[in-house]
Parts: sequence; structure tokens; C-alpha cells
Amino acid sequence: MTRYLVHPGSQLKGRFPVPGDKSISHRAVILGALAEGVTEVEGLLEGADVLATIAAFRTMGVEMQGPDLGHLRIQGVGLYGLRAPGVPLDCGNSGTAMRLLAGVLAGQAFPSILIGDASLQQRPMGRVLRPLAAMGAEIAAQDGKAPLQIHGRPLHGIDYALPMASAQVKSAILLAGLYAEGQTCVTEPAPTRDHSERMLQGFGYPVERQGPRACLRSGGQLHGQSLQVPGDISSAAFFLLGATIAPGSDLTLEGVGINPTRTGIIEILTRMGARIDLTALRVVGGEPVADIRVRYAQLQGIAIPAHLVPLAIDEFPALFIAAACAKGQTVITGAEELRVKESDRIAVMASGLRAMGVIVEERADGAIINGSLLQGGRINSQGDHRIAMAFAMAALVAQGDIEILDCANVATSFPSFPALAHQAGLLLEVVSA
Ligand code: S3P
Repeated sequence: MTRYLVHPGSQLKGRFPVPGDKSISHRAVILGALAEGVTEVEGLLEGADVLATIAAFRTMGVEMQGPDLGHLRIQGVGLYGLRAPGVPLDCGNSGTAMRLLAGVLAGQAFPSILIGDASLQQRPMGRVLRPLAAMGAEIAAQDGKAPLQIHGRPLHGIDYALPMASAQVKSAILLAGLYAEGQTCVTEPAPTRDHSERMLQGFGYPVERQGPRACLRSGGQLHGQSLQVPGDISSAAFFLLGATIAPGSDLTLEGVGINPTRTGIIEILTRMGARIDLTALRVVGGEPVADIRVRYAQLQGIAIPAHLVPLAIDEFPALFIAAACAKGQTVITGAEELRVKESDRIAVMASGLRAMGVIVEERADGAIINGSLLQGGRINSQGDHRIAMAFAMAALVAQGDIEILDCANVATSFPSFPALAHQAGLLLEVVSA
């Protein structure tokens, strides 16, 4: 089992890019595979989650070269060119892979089975199965959980109001809509990441967007593209946290995606008093990108506005640590979705912070965190990559060493995290036993 041993007392310095965005990388593989002609992707995240999506499409007959140093060449087979996989498709730890693939596979002319690791097999799939069933899909699950047995069938469009703010569910429905008779529309209760809508349009597929509603019609084609994946703000988040809490830090992260559906972390940290500056704003692969400079600042606890929660949904492990380092109280509400991520992130963060001496009151939809000195200690990340990385950064300001258990899944989203963190100054040792 891989664990991290992190020593306190350092600061973060330097200037470097972070790896490619995970959400955008999954979508590039999926749309490239379903497009006519060749798609060339640069800056692809080579994390285990994206590799699972690549492997699934290879099993369905899509030829790809790479990934190699972020480059992937996909020979698209067109919307109707996938082959029956014949074996279960393993999504590993990736909710995005499983939910988006369910949308693609529901309308195919062949059966398929989606499986995942122990964490993924515990996560709710009913949220995609219900709208897909309303489109005519036939998918069998165990109690709304994977494995998913998909009997590909003809689908028809729906007009669906999402009951929760979820980009994965929205994307699954839109992908199924590529195969559904007529028009498919999804309305979301709050803005969530819109990479699917942007990338569909980038591949030449019309998507009509009006406020919270996105619609598309079947019968179109995707056209192979060259695209560059921006750096992942969800990976940058750990460095924004570390540089903010560690006195003397000054770090610049290059080429980070700043899509407004993803920048909640910047907005929340700034409201808490962080010193974050965006420079060199540009557009890369249809997505806004910037270099982000972050310097140490004393944080202040705040009530995090609920409307910012979906815009920072993957950044709450980092935000729990920021809150623990802030003066006063931070109140998190409207964040019940955190309970169904790679782990129950409210429970696991609360127990990790308590192990460091922080007073945390857990709520069904969030937590109240009292800023304090952080003690050293042992944290169980419960195999959740983002929890492992957040506590690694907490060690910067802890009173003693932090040992973090069960860190191998950092490779799902950020395989180079230990090396980059070490390069920036974090005193992190990876112990594999
Ligand atoms: C993602 C959407 C979010 C996020 C996940 C990636 C995506 O999940 O937490 O890491 O790529 O669409 P939900 O849709 O479950 O909120």
C-alpha cells in the first residue's frame, strides 16, 4: 500500500504547468473515437482514469496511438463504428468514465458491461440510469450500482430536468442524445462544467444552449479535430492551497483552465483572503486558460456561498484544509454531493482534520470548520486521490510529520503529483510497502 510521509516547515516556490484536465481529456477521447477522421490531442492527462476510457474504446475497435507525452492520435470510427466489446469494460476508479460511457453505450446496437473498482461499484448510478431509461435504454444494475449490463437499444429524445447539479449526468444524457430519435434537452439546477457542450460544438456538432438548458438532435456527425487540453484547475488547486497556507510561498502555475464553471476554488480562496493573480489570459482548445500566481496570505474563515459549491465541487478536500488554516470559522453548506464522490468527502475530511486536532462539526450537506493549529498525525485517505493530496499540502504548516495512508489512487488524476510537489518544495516521501 502506498503512503506519503510529509515533513512540515517548507514553502512552495517555482513556475511550472500542471497536467491536462481530466474532464476534458475523457471527453477528447470519447468524441475523438466517435468522430469521422483523425483527432490529435495534445496535453492529454495520462492518469489511470483517462487510460481506462482509452482502453474501453480500444476494446471497441478504435485505433489510437499513444498516449505519449500527452499526445494521443485517435482514428475515429464515426458514431456508428464501435464494435461489440465482448468483455466487460473496466472503468477503474472513474465515475466520469462509467457515467459517460453508459450514455454512449445505451443506444448502440450491441450489449456491453461496465465494471469498476470497489469505490466505483459503491457509487450511485441510478442518477444516469433513470434518464437513460426514460430515453428507452435497457440497463440492469444491482441496487442502482455497477456492474451495469447494457442492452443497446434504439433511444428517443427526452426533455430532462436534472435533480442534482451533475456534469456527468448531463453529459451522459447528451451523449445518449446523439443516438436518440428527435431532440434531447437537459436543464440543470445550477451551472456545472460545460466541457461536453463546448467540445461537441468544437467537433462541429450543433448544441443549442439557453441559460441552464442544453439541447441537441441526433443525425449529425462529429468531425475529427486537433485539440490542446488545458491544465487541470482541480490539480492546480492543491498548489493554490499549499502556496496560500505556507508562509514565504510564491508559485506560478502555467496554462491552467479557467472555464467559469470550474473557478469556484479561486473565487472562494480569494473571498477568504488569498493572493491569487491571473495573467496571460488566452483561449486553448475552446477553453479559457491563464497562468495563475499564488502567494502566501493569512486566510479568514467565511460562509461559502452555496452557489459556488458546484463550481468548486472537486476542490472541497483542499478547501477543508484552507478552512482549518484560516482564522475563525468556515461554514460549508449545500455540498451533499461530496458524500458520493470517490469517498464520502465530508466524513473522510472531517475525520482527517480531527486527527490533526481541528474541531469540525459535520453536517449532512457540509461542515463547520474551526481554524486552528494543525497537529501532526496519521490520516487515512480511504483511497481518495484528492484527499491524499489535500492532506499532503496540510503538512506544510503542521506541527509534526503527517503520514497519509492509501495514496496509490493519486495516479488516477495526477500521477506526477509527488514529483511536482517535491520540486516545488514540499518535503514529501512516497513509501511503497
Ligand atoms: C466530472 C463531473 C463532476 C466531478 C468529476 C468530474 C465530469 O462529477 O466531480 O470529478 O468530468 O463531468 P458530478 O457530475 O458527479 O458532479
